[in-house]
Amino acid sequence: MIAARFGLKKMPFDKSISTRDLYPSPGLTELSERLEMSKSARGVMLLTGDPGLGKTVAVRKFVDSLNSERYVCCYLPLATVTILDAYGQLNRALGGTSVSSKSQMFEQIQRGVAELAGQGKQPVIIFDEADLLKNAMFDELRILLNFEMDSQDPLLLILVGQPRLLATLSMRIHLPFRQRVAMRYRMPPMDEKQTRGYVEHHLKLAGRSNGLFTDEAMNQLFVQSGGVPRVIGNIALAAMTEAAMAGRDLVELDEVITASKEVV
Ligand SMILES: Nc1ncnc2c1ncn2[C@@H]1O[C@H](COP(=O)(O)OP(=O)(O)OP(=O)(O)O)[C@@H](O)[C@H]1O
Ligand SMILES: [Mg+2]
Repeated sequence: MIAARFGLKKMPFDKSISTRDLYPSPGLTELSERLEMSKSARGVMLLTGDPGLGKTVAVRKFVDSLNSERYVCCYLPLATVTILDAYGQLNRALGGTSVSSKSQMFEQIQRGVAELAGQGKQPVIIFDEADLLKNAMFDELRILLNFEMDSQDPLLLILVGQPRLLATLSMRIHLPFRQRVAMRYRMPPMDEKQTRGYVEHHLKLAGRSNGLFTDEAMNQLFVQSGGVPRVIGNIALAAMTEAAMAGRDLVELDEVITASKEVV
């Protein structure tokens, strides 16, 4: 009903958005460049940022861009998994056979990385929600990065998480791990102009190219959302519902204010 009311083909702010269709915000563009650079530098990359800023979609875009003949990617979305679970998933991704003990898995993983290197392939291992990783896991990961192969790190490890990941890593016990970090990026929120661009981009993807939000409504959407993409989408959708209920053709300031109270 809402889509039809505003002349849209589908609901905007679709969570299953294709990585090709992402809004090219300056934050996403800079992150993509840094990820690209990390491919050759290897070692550890830290990607942090508050919830909803678009870290996971940005990493999805990077994974989609990897040439499968040169990179073997292992994406671990839930960092709360045990060390054994993480090793099991890594082992499978690197082509290892199923073994039960941790030491056997570790050996297989090391062998897998070495074999891939021999074939000119590089593993890219991504832990999403890495702020939830247990302290012991950082030691495991450091050992994994410590192959005595050549002077170059054997793989690229990307840790994605909320800013408390940095607080965890600033602990003295993590100094050896911290020294392996070759690249960092903190995802910024969008400014007012980018927020407008983001909303218009999503509306266009849904089939509407002329403005739906008044200038005042758009400004308020930025103020209330703090430029965080997930919050922008949530408030915008709630405001569209309010406007549709009120029988309006445009979304106005009042609807964004009401929607913000419901959403935030
Ligand atoms: N550049 C973008 N273009 C289009 N949609 C985006 C963009 N950035 C973020 N989004 C949308 O914003 C929402 C939040 O993004 P995402 O889940 O990647 O955030 P996150 O930083 O990983 O959050 P969390 O810390 O909670 O895991 C998603 O629905 C996503 O589709
Ligand atoms: Mg995420």
